[in-house]
Amino acid sequence: MVTTIEIKREMRNPSKVIVGDALRLLPDVLPVGRRVVAITDPNVDAIYGEVIRAHAGEVIVIPTGEENKTFATVEAIHRRLVEIGADRRTYIVGVGGGITTDVTGFAASTYLRGVEFGFVATSLLAQVDASVGGKNGVNVAGYKNMAGVFNQPDFVLCDTGVLATLPPREFRAGLAEMIKAGIIADPALFEIFESHSPEELLADTELLTGAITAAIKVKAAIVDADEREAGERRKLNLGHTVAHAIEKLSRRYNHGEAVGAGLVAIAGVSERLGLLATAECDRIVRAVEKAGLPTATEIPAAETARALTRDKKVEGDELWLVVVRAIGDVDVRRTPIGELAALL
Ligand SMILES: NC(=O)c1ccc[n+]([C@@H]2O[C@H](COP(=O)([O-])OP(=O)(O)OC[C@H]3O[C@@H](n4cnc5c(N)ncnc54)[C@H](O)[C@@H]3O)[C@@H](O)[C@H]2O)c1
Ligand SMILES: [Zn+2]
Repeated sequence: MVTTIEIKREMRNPSKVIVGDALRLLPDVLPVGRRVVAITDPNVDAIYGEVIRAHAGEVIVIPTGEENKTFATVEAIHRRLVEIGADRRTYIVGVGGGITTDVTGFAASTYLRGVEFGFVATSLLAQVDASVGGKNGVNVAGYKNMAGVFNQPDFVLCDTGVLATLPPREFRAGLAEMIKAGIIADPALFEIFESHSPEELLADTELLTGAITAAIKVKAAIVDADEREAGERRKLNLGHTVAHAIEKLSRRYNHGEAVGAGLVAIAGVSERLGLLATAECDRIVRAVEKAGLPTATEIPAAETARALTRDKKVEGDELWLVVVRAIGDVDVRRTPIGELAALL
């Protein structure tokens, strides 16, 4: 059983996100009679290499880790594509977690000024967030996602079966983005994380598939309304201003863990601003905790605040801060960095 969620694209067919036992559909979504090049990482290749090679004539393996989400990796991909004579009809498929899909989308969008591409999202985080919505890109000088494009894939396959091989820590990281989606727009989705541990979710395919679908729908609706982040899409950055500062300051946390701590921080800020009831703030803290994610870090608030002021995405002395009014209701407001720093 699969569920398909469509997200509109300008002048093209919609991007299709397919959730469920979706991997078997790979031959159906790939174009017929065209050369297929897959891009993956060594961990995913070790487990799914055979499936990938059954559908792709060439496989490019890129190194793992945020430190390799760079132009150097994109260049290595482009060099290989040139070497093998990839042309405009070559089809690219990224198979892996969010790092692989972010890099693949950017490499495909810039090779020969853009070739067509799709994703098989293999981490929970990639399924519910990274692979969906068309933001692709790389880090520059240690700053997250400083270069990239908006360009949605033709398809995203989100196969819940592949999550069985995902390291538990990575599974929990994905839950952070799902909790985020619940807080932004879906209280019923949020409640799933109040009442189920990561182990329970992983063991209940139906519940998990439903939750993944709900999280993708939250993102899809927002991207549909504001593909290029002129307004509404900023809501998806809930918890991320602080999360990016954490990722910059410490190697200890992966993206999802930083988002967990970032959600708790921003819930606290929202409460201090008098926007969010204490009981609702506590629910957010407990859900993050139940997902096995950090609710705080050892990084002193003053250091986080300093990192915010150095954030390259800050416009002037203000940033767009996503605050929580209730579970299922967030607001975006221009906030002076000094004010946010004081509230942290
Ligand atoms: N583009 C967007 O809109 C967007 C949104 C959210 C996050 N992101 C980006 O996504 C990245 C994080 O993604 P991630 O957490 O998936 O990281 P990741 O790609 O590093 O994957 C996590 C780890 O799991 C392994 N893995 C993946 N699937 C597996 C499977 N099925 N079985 C076994 N191992 C598997 C990977 O090899 C890796 O070691 C960050 O760079 C973040 O900025 C982008
Ligand atoms: Zn994120």
